[in-house]
Amino acid sequence: MTQDSAHDKPTAGAKLWGGRFSEPTDAFVERFTASVEFDRRLYREDIQGSQAHARMLAKVGVLGADEAEQIIQGLEAIREEIAAGEFDWQVGREDVHMNIEARLIERIGEVGKKLHTGRSRNDQVATDIRLWLRAAIDDILVLIRAYQRGLVDLAEREADTVMPGFTHLQTAQPVTFGHHMLAWYEMLERDAERLRDGRRRVNVLPLGAAALAGTPYPLDREYTAELLGFDEVTRNSLDAVSDRDFAIEFTAAAATLMMHLSRQAEELVLWTSAQFAFIDLPDRYCTGSSIMPQKKNPDVPELVRGKTGRVYGHLMSLLTLMKGQPLAYNKDNQEDKEPLFDTVDTLLGSLRAFADMVPSLEVRAENTLAATRKGFATATDLADYLVGRGVAFRDAHEVVGRAVRVAQERGVDLAELPLADLQAISEAVGDDVFAVLTPEGSAAARDLTGGTAPAQVRRQAAAARQRLDEAST
Ligand code: ARG
Repeated sequence: MTQDSAHDKPTAGAKLWGGRFSEPTDAFVERFTASVEFDRRLYREDIQGSQAHARMLAKVGVLGADEAEQIIQGLEAIREEIAAGEFDWQVGREDVHMNIEARLIERIGEVGKKLHTGRSRNDQVATDIRLWLRAAIDDILVLIRAYQRGLVDLAEREADTVMPGFTHLQTAQPVTFGHHMLAWYEMLERDAERLRDGRRRVNVLPLGAAALAGTPYPLDREYTAELLGFDEVTRNSLDAVSDRDFAIEFTAAAATLMMHLSRQAEELVLWTSAQFAFIDLPDRYCTGSSIMPQKKNPDVPELVRGKTGRVYGHLMSLLTLMKGQPLAYNKDNQEDKEPLFDTVDTLLGSLRAFADMVPSLEVRAENTLAATRKGFATATDLADYLVGRGVAFRDAHEVVGRAVRVAQERGVDLAELPLADLQAISEAVGDDVFAVLTPEGSAAARDLTGGTAPAQVRRQAAAARQRLDEAST
């Protein structure tokens, strides 16, 4: 019947999977289920994966060598089309995979229809994301290292600069600015370690799992893995197409990294305020106010602090995305991409800003020193001094507490109390006491591994620099 034969041949806009359908997809459903608007970002990885798949199919004799070559060349031409912005992305073709495959068939004809042999979009998309995320992690690691290098330089520059260290945001003890910067360095060191560790679980090849059960073709999965630089192949096809743990792990590491940047941002914002005035951020990283002429706002750190929220949200999205899914692949998984892409973009932007901005901040050392002289930052040093003179620590603590009260009543610092007054509080006090009451003396005294003394800051900075050099070779 003519009516039936009209359905025999796919029309121009026909689906690659259209065979069993009796009516076209609803136009709204087509848009609702399509992912091409965002997953086209995977085009390079999709082409790279397809080229490796074709090469492998030729190696095992499923494709002729010339057929594989035509496919590989055809895909190459499509890559160029896309890069040049000349590719006609079609929502009707649903996603990046079918847009490229359909275009390949348009370009090279019948042989293009052989590319999808022994493969499904389920293992294809899992491969694409893994390739994409692997490269993203490498880019992020480069920026983390650049930022860490900047922090190490700054730490060395400000190794002797004294500032108040806080607990409960109350003045606690003198620390060096360099020591504070190396604390930030350590946070990032753990972030880098988490990302490198997670990368091992990203770098596993799913191709060969096909839709969910594997494929009857004699695929050489190890060869495909080698072509694509994967360390291993997945061991279970059901798990291979449904697993998104690697994306969740990455996003968890990303959320932790953003939490660190947010804490650093918070300190930068505080320190630039007139009340602290510890630092100046470079003008190129700040903005003014449309009404208040005096303002120089730390927009960039504020924005990084704000953006932390979206990355936390993406982690929650991905966890929730997976929690109800039976094995194996479900369309839900299409929702993994936008959170993942935005997480990577947010990290790259935030790290790039910090890597440039933080190392070029100016420390206002006269203000950090003056601030250290307020708030009795050396009270613990006085107690330690008394311990050195034979007083039990608990008693020394009590005595110094009284000294602080006296100083407070007179509106002076501990170091400004006359010797006679200190001796009235404890007869163990000698005239050498003032050396330990200076912020510089206090910091220099903490000369043990991990301590704030300038000598330790220089030592840790040198060790950090060596680690960074090793990581980049
Ligand atoms: N666009 C899909 C995704 O991102 C590709 C896989 C589709 N597979 C399928 N069986 N519908 O997950």
